[in-house]
Amino acid sequence: MIKILIINKVVNGINLIDAIRGRRTILDYKPDKIKRELLMEILTNASFAPNHHMKEPWKLKIYEEDSRSKFGEKVVDSYIRLGLLKTLNEGKLKKAREAYDRFFTSVPHHILFYMDKEDNGGYLDDENFAAICAFIQNFQLLAWEKGIGTMWTAKETLRDEVFIRDVGLSPNEHRLVAVVQVGYPNKVPKGKERTPIQESIEWIQA
Ligand SMILES: Cc1cc2nc3c(=O)[nH]c(=O)nc-3n(C[C@H](O)[C@H](O)[C@H](O)COP(=O)(O)O)c2cc1C
Repeated sequence: MIKILIINKVVNGINLIDAIRGRRTILDYKPDKIKRELLMEILTNASFAPNHHMKEPWKLKIYEEDSRSKFGEKVVDSYIRLGLLKTLNEGKLKKAREAYDRFFTSVPHHILFYMDKEDNGGYLDDENFAAICAFIQNFQLLAWEKGIGTMWTAKETLRDEVFIRDVGLSPNEHRLVAVVQVGYPNKVPKGKERTPIQESIEWIQA
């Protein structure tokens, strides 16, 4: 039997290079939920991300339906606490809250990624954080391959102890990694060019 090595394999009509280069961060979503089975399939495949000592450190809270508004409110509370919306007077703040609520309820799923702390911000935590970032990128690419858009977000809110408690976790025991918005894209933004990689490389031979 002849074994054929297929390089640049096409899966469901999109190859890896196209997924990596074509994926866009999506801000504007269709209201349709993603079927639970499909989301589970993508998450299962994403879990084949590299992770040291097979700790599989990723933990997820998935906010859907009515929980989105409350989750968004907690996020905005944190922005206010951290001074990210400090220039707004009361009237403008109310409008901003309404706009955030429209955004949070316009996205079908918000996934909060977090992990258990192992050595309180030490190297082991860095390893686990890195593994979750690998999971998230797998997830983004696998989702894109199914026509699903995502937006990876990370702000100081992830370190806001009140926010961590607001989502039912403990600042001593848990570290938040990211919030990823998920849904079918309504609008796909134009691609962004990248700086030639050579500018970031130093070749060292002696
Ligand atoms: C750790 C991290 C945090 C990010 N936080 C945000 C964010 O808070 N808001 C946002 O709009 N995009 C955020 N992004 C997405 C980037 O803005 C986006 O990937 C970048 O502009 C390139 O666009 P592209 O993903 O469409 O290629 C984040 C991405 C990463 C990896």
